Amino acid sequence: MKKDFSRREFLQRSAGATGAYVAARTMILDPEKIPLPSSAVPPSDRVRFGIIGVGMQGSGLLSNAIQLPGVECVAAADLYDGRHTLAKEIAGAKIATTRRYQELLDNKEIDCIVAAVPDHWHKKVVVDAVSAGKDIYCEKPMSHSAADGVAMVAAAQKTGRIVQIGSQRVSSVICTKAKELLASGIIGTLTLVEGSLGRNDPTGAWEYPPPPDASPATIDWDAWQGDVPKREFDAKIFARWRCWKEYGTGVAGDLLVHLVSGMNYMLGWNEAPKRAMALGGILRFPDGRNMPDVQATLFDYGRAPVYLRLNLGCETPEIYRFQGSKGILEVTETTISYFPQSGEDESPSYYTVSYPRAMREAYLKQWHAEHDPKPGKEPVAEGFTYRGVSWDEEKPHLWKFFQGVKNRQLVTEDAVFGHNAALACHMANESYFRRAAVTWDAASGQIKS
Ligand SMILES: NC(=O)c1ccc[n+]([C@@H]2O[C@H](COP(=O)([O-])OP(=O)(O)OC[C@H]3O[C@@H](n4cnc5c(N)ncnc54)[C@H](O)[C@@H]3O)[C@@H](O)[C@H]2O)c1
Repeated sequence: MKKDFSRREFLQRSAGATGAYVAARTMILDPEKIPLPSSAVPPSDRVRFGIIGVGMQGSGLLSNAIQLPGVECVAAADLYDGRHTLAKEIAGAKIATTRRYQELLDNKEIDCIVAAVPDHWHKKVVVDAVSAGKDIYCEKPMSHSAADGVAMVAAAQKTGRIVQIGSQRVSSVICTKAKELLASGIIGTLTLVEGSLGRNDPTGAWEYPPPPDASPATIDWDAWQGDVPKREFDAKIFARWRCWKEYGTGVAGDLLVHLVSGMNYMLGWNEAPKRAMALGGILRFPDGRNMPDVQATLFDYGRAPVYLRLNLGCETPEIYRFQGSKGILEVTETTISYFPQSGEDESPSYYTVSYPRAMREAYLKQWHAEHDPKPGKEPVAEGFTYRGVSWDEEKPHLWKFFQGVKNRQLVTEDAVFGHNAALACHMANESYFRRAAVTWDAASGQIKS
């Protein structure tokens, strides 16, 4: 016998009881059912919304929302005049536009708000909206800080208004089916969750081209900065605010929050992590930003370890792998694949390479006699794949919100859910900046290290 008799070699030579792997089946998931648009919805039955922030995300939300049956845009607020033009281009010249969102909150014709403003504005817009009696769909991450999130949950609970946060994947058929499979116990005991996403281009790293006419004349720069210490007008900050912690929440708030929200939804979790430890750096885009462009975080939810990685410096697919004693459920933007594992010894133990030959041969003989399947009774471990529409599709998530507004149905991604997902992101950022593991102290509402 060769001295470096390897584990792989041992398994190949002594295999016998391994289950036959059958080629994976592929099944198609039906898209979420949203009734076809119909002009028949009487005006009294329509949901009328106002939109606050018609930038990169808000413009898409507006286009999608007005395609939903019985949903109508009444007005748009934005601090940049170019986006008044854009809002009218999307929703028609009839909609009112203003720089002052308070006008939308005062407007009795408006039932609810859709808000897509930079993160440093989320708390004020949500608290103002619910306090004015308006339900609100607010973009992710729900909060810009843990304290903001605590205040937002309190305002939502006090007023009883519907708050839906905009990590749209929780309303996708992909996440719904994955949740069902995980709840059925398909992967056995959950032992580890990993998720990752990588990009490798300036636009993916938020180096957006500011609108050519951006200036203090076209933008209310003072208002845009909100409570952040004021600085001279800077068109790059206006367009690339995600790069700075004063306005954005980094890769954590931009991308990790999607991974966390989807994970929590699929696993049926709704809590903050107990502990987080993040590493990262500004490795690929040292363009003056103060938020990392690479961040890898280990989370402790008091269950299986969760390891989530974001990288703006190397492109990799966006993927989750839920690992368990009975295999792996791999979830991507458009697919769910199950890779089964028996969790049993499928070949004689390689430890027996350490037996003298006669002992080893006796062991192998007995093992095969006890484990080899009878002819025609080979175990079949069958994998499969589901394919569905992208989890990035926003219409189902908006539809659930507008139905909630109309029927007072609870939404999945409410303020508590949004707060818990955002807390994971704040903990990742705090751990990165403090260079230490951090914990969430619910009693004091603080992240501690
Ligand atoms: N769900 C997703 O997949 C997704 C994707 C992109 C962005 N987002 C989120 O959407 C939000 C907006 O991001 P964006 O990329 O559209 O930013 P953006 O800078 O392109 O647009 C934001 C707009 O809000 C306006 N604004 C800022 N403060 C305002 C205020 N007080 N009143 C009225 N208007 C105000 C700005 O003038 C700007 O036009 C962020 O929270 C971001 O995280 C979510």
